[in-house]
Amino acid sequence: MRDRTPEWVSPEILASFDAEGTDAHRVCSSVGGWAERFGRDFLVSWRDAAFRDAMRAGLGAWAKGAGLALDRIFERELPRRAEARSSPTLFQGDAAMPAEGVATERGMRFLIDFAGGYSVGLFPDQRGNRALVRQWRPAKTLNLFAYTCSFSVAAALGGGHATSVDLSRKSLERGRGNFSANGLDPGAHAFIAADALRLLPRMERRDERYDCVIVDPPTFSRGEGGRAFRVERDMADLALAALRLVGTRGRLLLATNCGTMDEADLRAAARYALKATRRGADMHAEPPPPDVPPEEAAKTLWILAKD
Ligand SMILES: C[S@@+](CC[C@H](N)C(=O)[O-])C[C@H]1O[C@@H](n2cnc3c(N)ncnc32)[C@H](O)[C@@H]1O
Repeated sequence: MRDRTPEWVSPEILASFDAEGTDAHRVCSSVGGWAERFGRDFLVSWRDAAFRDAMRAGLGAWAKGAGLALDRIFERELPRRAEARSSPTLFQGDAAMPAEGVATERGMRFLIDFAGGYSVGLFPDQRGNRALVRQWRPAKTLNLFAYTCSFSVAAALGGGHATSVDLSRKSLERGRGNFSANGLDPGAHAFIAADALRLLPRMERRDERYDCVIVDPPTFSRGEGGRAFRVERDMADLALAALRLVGTRGRLLLATNCGTMDEADLRAAARYALKATRRGADMHAEPPPPDVPPEEAAKTLWILAKD
């Protein structure tokens, strides 16, 4: 059982982020919540008011001691029910500054918006998987549940074409902004506002194939026509529908934030999809990032098709 003492990231980890050009990362974790850095702004996410108060009292001094510039501190409560989520509020800093900022990850630039909803635009715990996509330079990438299209940016920076799919037009608009922020022409890529679950079979009928497919669905969603998606129940079928679009020697990422699922569940979904398509594959799980306790990081698994 973890104790309640906030655990700050070490100077060594901070130095490695600095060296690689990353300023979007956690700075502190505890059972009561966590704090993240996005450039010169910080976000405290708390479920326990004692953690929020500890950050109010100590985050500024810690940042100063670590040599990190701090303009503002935002806060958001981590409610038990997703419906109770709301945008962060400003605790410290200039209220007249725009709510938007820019954070960097291994040289990629991502727009952060503290007023655009509960999530601010980037999930730093997927850093390692984005780096793999960028390194692999897939010619054609399909990013399902794309949110602000951070995986698509990583793919497009490698020179390939990216198709981003999300129910939310607003998130895709933010995604276009992320392309522009990285010197990429959003007009040269596809942004599709649609229910991914409905789109997948249509793409298969059109014989579409991709070198890299990203599947990072929410824990629960209600798609077009009010149909409910539950990741625990539906991940295996989703993995199968996505694998059908993966071309020869292509790669498929399965990812989830669902607290009740682990890597073994993703491996089971992968095996089900591979068996149904009669394909062989290697599997690869990136190690958890150094700044996030393993039990809090997204669970992720790559299926690397052999044929
Ligand atoms: C967990 S976030 C994805 C995070 C993203 N992969 C990233 O790394 O930034 C889930 C996203 O799925 C979208 N979404 C939820 N249900 C959907 C559906 N049925 N079809 C397409 N997108 C959906 C939401 O709008 C949200 O942007």
